[in-house]
Amino acid sequence: PHFVIDWVEECVSTNTALMENTPADDGRVHVLAAERQSAGRGRRGRQWQSWPDGSLTFSSVWHFARGTPAPAGLSLVAGLAVAQALERFGVVGLQLKWPNDVLVNGEKLVGILVELSTGHARGLAAVIGIGINLRLPPDVRIEAQTGVTDLARALDGDVPSRPALLAAILAELERLCATYASGGFPALKDAWEQRNAFAELPVRISGDHTALEGICAGVDDDGALLLRTDTGMQRILAGDVSLRPL
Ligand code: BTN
Repeated sequence: PHFVIDWVEECVSTNTALMENTPADDGRVHVLAAERQSAGRGRRGRQWQSWPDGSLTFSSVWHFARGTPAPAGLSLVAGLAVAQALERFGVVGLQLKWPNDVLVNGEKLVGILVELSTGHARGLAAVIGIGINLRLPPDVRIEAQTGVTDLARALDGDVPSRPALLAAILAELERLCATYASGGFPALKDAWEQRNAFAELPVRISGDHTALEGICAGVDDDGALLLRTDTGMQRILAGDVSLRPL
């Protein structure tokens, strides 16, 4: 009863469209998928590139009642949901890079952009945008140093159909968002940490005005990154920061 799916040829960005025109909470989950985005957006003002037939790009809107857990954890919830859905298709070695990239063999398979839309009568809405590389064009694929990978490689050419992937990811998002709404991030923390790409590894966190180095000591009950530094444990909230291995 509860998913409303629009699948369009072209869109500026499915996240932008749903942020500008966020459906009110009618008890259903609204989804916008696009064959092409003319201005796909990534985190931190970056662009997101996708290829017709070679990508799955969509956004969905999730309403949360006032008083539900801190929205910062939602980025991690989204990454975990995508990872768990892809694991069901047989992808092995999936890892999560805080706050919400999904990697295989250290290369990026999925990008996620979570944006919050406030001012709703009963709480807030999260627009969760997901871009999955299914088949990268050859010119992108052969450049070994791009740090990106695709599902074709992860599954040895046997890529599930886009509707099947979409359905599986939405089902997993629904399950994890419900868990998150009732129990917050603690209920999902172990599952996230099991897939942490940088557990106990040296990393650098950089933002517009900050740079911190330390050992990635996992995440806390809010989904904040814990960084063990020379001066003690630092807690970093997912915001305009990025993580790099050292
Ligand atoms: C990142 O890795 O920085 C996040 C990339 C998010 C890409 C998806 S594709 C669907 C949705 N629409 C957008 O414009 N961005 C997200």
